Amino acid sequence: MSDLYDLIVIGAGPGGYVAAIRAAQLGMKTAVVEREKKLGGTCLRVGCIPSKALLETTELLEKSRHQFAERGIIVHDVSIDLPKMMAHKDGVIAQLDGGIQGLLKKHRIDRHLGQGRLTGGGKVEVAGDTGITILDGKRILIATGSESTSFPGMEPDGDRIGTSTEALSWPEVPDHLVVIGARVIGLELGTVWRRLGSKVSVLEYLPRILPGTDSQIAHTAQKILQQQGIDFHLGTKVKNVSSDGKSCRVEIDGSEPVDCDRVLIAVGRRPCTDHLGLDQVGIETDQRGFVRVNSAYQTTATGVYAIGDVIGGAMLAHKAEEEGVACVEKLATGHGHVNYANIPGVIYTAPEIASVGATEDELRERGHEYRIGRFSFAANGRARAVGHMEGFVKIIADAENDRVLGVHIIGAHAGELIAEAAVAMEFGASSEDIARCCHAHPTLAEAVREAALAVDKRAIHS
Ligand code: FAD
Ligand code: NAI
Repeated sequence: MSDLYDLIVIGAGPGGYVAAIRAAQLGMKTAVVEREKKLGGTCLRVGCIPSKALLETTELLEKSRHQFAERGIIVHDVSIDLPKMMAHKDGVIAQLDGGIQGLLKKHRIDRHLGQGRLTGGGKVEVAGDTGITILDGKRILIATGSESTSFPGMEPDGDRIGTSTEALSWPEVPDHLVVIGARVIGLELGTVWRRLGSKVSVLEYLPRILPGTDSQIAHTAQKILQQQGIDFHLGTKVKNVSSDGKSCRVEIDGSEPVDCDRVLIAVGRRPCTDHLGLDQVGIETDQRGFVRVNSAYQTTATGVYAIGDVIGGAMLAHKAEEEGVACVEKLATGHGHVNYANIPGVIYTAPEIASVGATEDELRERGHEYRIGRFSFAANGRARAVGHMEGFVKIIADAENDRVLGVHIIGAHAGELIAEAAVAMEFGASSEDIARCCHAHPTLAEAVREAALAVDKRAIHS
């Protein structure tokens, strides 16, 4: 049996399901093909949401152990019920999955459960439990996302050596966890297991943590995370990882091997394009396997588009969403745009790390003249009252016209504070514009304003 759709979306992650909803809003008859029963993709099933649920729960644990007593809250024998913590996380996933299922229904989007494959001529073959269905579409959108990658000698074993997917559900707390990779996944999930009681050693190939993040922010983050108990081994290249089922051995170039109970491989993600039929329909990929698209998200096959992690760039849920909306709006109206210079990024460690726009390192390298305003949370009233004094806000403005070029924050709720910076930058704000806006008192956002004032050396509280 064959249905004719205006748009068939393959993959129901944040890129795909959001694109489908926008397409339906614009009047397109839309179908979504997803091989997993749950919708929401990596982000909801094994990414953003479960990791944030675990980070939140373990932060409560940490606060109850280390911060309650100094405020006069006396609790005895705090301990963690790991299965209950995991059940809470799974409950959050189930609720949000139900929400997305409801949204697809509301927008009359047909949901097809199964592995999608392009067979040419606008057709998508869906291989599900009950057999094969062929869908017919005027246009097809590939939103199949990404999956964890590893290197030869460093493969997950489905038991003690795992990727982020396994590390979100380990059944017991390892005594010693080795994390390979000191970027986002390594630091977020390393933090979760450290708070649960593991000794955490992070091995990173490069001489610094968080490559790509403003180096001043990364340096501060490293100091704070070290104080919290994470061990960093930088400039460390892992050669091989093995396990006998009870413990693991991590072999390193040029130094002694490290023995531990579990290993988290967090060395990046690769596009999900296996069995998608790309070759068959003439869709080109780049050297790393990402689907090639033009500025309208069109692949090298007529009528086939791609967005999200599968086309590369920042692997972020909101970047995938933006692209999904822009692609569909361009199809329907001729207009649609993503401002890649203004995509915020947040790392949910404690304190959080958030940034948008250019880093100081990038501007220095480009020879772009800039001025910097910095303001520490230690001098912010709300931060003192709530006991989150670590970190600072850093605003980088063009030396000539004061336009904000980048904002970098390390501190409590940085992930919320960065939204103001992203909006300001989207409107082409100067640091003076931010400084002249009234900010409520007492709020952490006042630190953003003070950093903007500091660009012109006129911060009030420092
Ligand atoms: P995905 O979410 O990967 O969705 C693709 C979907 O396509 C999947 O459901 C898959 O099953 C389906 N699919 C693939 N092939 C087929 C096929 N042939 N047929 C049918 N279905 C198919 N980003 C953030 O912005 N913030 C965060 O806090 C954050 N935390 C993260 C934490 C972790 C542990 C991980 C791993 C990632 C995190 N990310 C975060 C990244 C984020 O999850 C991804 O950038 C985002 O999910 C990409 O969205 P997408 O729609 O492109 O693809
Ligand atoms: P990544 O690609 O961001 O970082 C991998 C790190 O591993 C790099 O620092 C790299 O130098 C290091 N590395 C590579 N090979 C190594 C080796 N042999 N030995 C030691 N170190 C090695 O990968 P990560 O952290 O797995 O994240 C994948 C993606 O998921 C990211 O692109 C990120 O955007 C996304 N994500 C986003 C989150 C957020 O927005 N809060 C949270 C988690 C993931």
